[in-house]
Amino acid sequence: MTVLDPVWTSLLYLTAAVFFILALRGLSSPRTARRGNLIGAFGALLAVVTVFFSARLENIPWIVGAIAVGTAVAAPVARRVKMTQMPQLVALFNGVGGGAAALVALLELSHTGDPWVRLAIVFTLLVGAVSFAGSGVTFAKLQELMTTRPLVFPGLPIVMAAVLLAAVGTGVAVVLTGSLPLAVLLMVLGLAAGALLVLPVGGADVPIVISLLNAFTGLAVAASGVVLGNVLLVVAGTLVGASGTILTRAMAAAMGRSVAGILFGAFKGGSTAGSTAMSERPVRSSSAEDVAVLLGYAQRVIIVPGYGLAVAQGQHTAAELALALEARGIEVDFAIHPVAGRMPGHMNVLLAEANVPYESLKEMGEINPEFRTADVALVVGANDVVNPAAKTSSGSPIYGMPILEVAEARQVIFLKRSMRPGFAGIENDLLYEPQTSLLFGDAKDSLAKVLGAVKAL
Ligand code: TAP
Repeated sequence: MTVLDPVWTSLLYLTAAVFFILALRGLSSPRTARRGNLIGAFGALLAVVTVFFSARLENIPWIVGAIAVGTAVAAPVARRVKMTQMPQLVALFNGVGGGAAALVALLELSHTGDPWVRLAIVFTLLVGAVSFAGSGVTFAKLQELMTTRPLVFPGLPIVMAAVLLAAVGTGVAVVLTGSLPLAVLLMVLGLAAGALLVLPVGGADVPIVISLLNAFTGLAVAASGVVLGNVLLVVAGTLVGASGTILTRAMAAAMGRSVAGILFGAFKGGSTAGSTAMSERPVRSSSAEDVAVLLGYAQRVIIVPGYGLAVAQGQHTAAELALALEARGIEVDFAIHPVAGRMPGHMNVLLAEANVPYESLKEMGEINPEFRTADVALVVGANDVVNPAAKTSSGSPIYGMPILEVAEARQVIFLKRSMRPGFAGIENDLLYEPQTSLLFGDAKDSLAKVLGAVKAL
């Protein structure tokens, strides 16, 4: 196979890097996210193809075989995954990326005597292994293969400190000696550190840790770029590291928590616990017809979508209901909380899928002052993001999280199946307030019944 001139290789890598940056730009808005995703995928394809032509590769059949196996496994999984399972899929892909960077670094150890390159190898090994094991544990938690509660045991901080100290010592030894067995030991210590880092994180905090580990993988990949002398890996890894860090901070801020509080909260009992306990206090339950009357004769309705709408796949029915109400001259908006659902932008993606116009999706800061002018707030499968405990109960795990002020509306209607709490596992006192009524059932079924009743008014 002919090998590309290094100048052409650099130019193609630069082009791929520009595609990655444009992809991030596209992903910053729901309008352009699909295009951004395609641009990023094209950049990645260009980068991979360039590698084949930029060097005289050995073992091409093995490489092609590995790509074929990876594609055969990942493509159907990515196609079939439910939107609500996206965070664990991201965790899985992210972990594999960190693991791959660590393995590449391990193999490169025997090819170098340069202590600076060995330092980059040590960093890649450690951070890649932390990301691989940490992502594996977050996947198991979100997939409910293990408990989502924080797992802490006595002496955990001491064990963690010992593992980290041992990792630093082993890392220094690898830089000085280039020993392969010590490098393997370092990787094992990294795996232990990754698992220990994530085990104490519970409930609603897990998706934030995925984003943090994503940033770790980015850094590991950037360091592996240094090891391999590949500028594109450095650029791509740095972009992932930076965007993962920004996303982690934005999600933590939207939940009113600090990143340190999320990671180490369980050591002092502060991480969200997650429970499915059901309350037995009395509530006011309504029929679909009652709800239809409240909605159909309102002037202003604000629909608050949450995780339950995604589970029920009720977005199309919600959009139809909004149209039916608008046809009656009622002003309808959707209030979007930044952490409603289980991933950033979850509600935007869901409602865009149902062709709800972007102008009807109002961010929290914009819609909150409007609840007091709303006749009805229709909360569809949301709970934590409207829970006043975030403002009033200083002991609550969601205390400090900005919420959608639905309690300000004249009437609040919750569509949910039971009295079970949301992801944070805490009761919502708003369910028991006099202006609140509940329509029990699957969100999609309830919305369809309400829609039918509105049309019959
Ligand atoms: P949640 O508080 O988790 O509440 C979801 C509600 O939907 C539950 O009350 C549940 O009650 C109901 N539900 C579930 N399936 C349903 C169905 N098929 N039909 C009708 N109702 C259904 O959701 P939220 O208000 O969207 O809050 C999101 C939570 O995830 C927050 O705690 C947030 O901090 C956390 N989180 C989100 C993110 C991102 S980036 N989105 C990241 C980290 C953490 P029933 O079981 O009684 O039906």
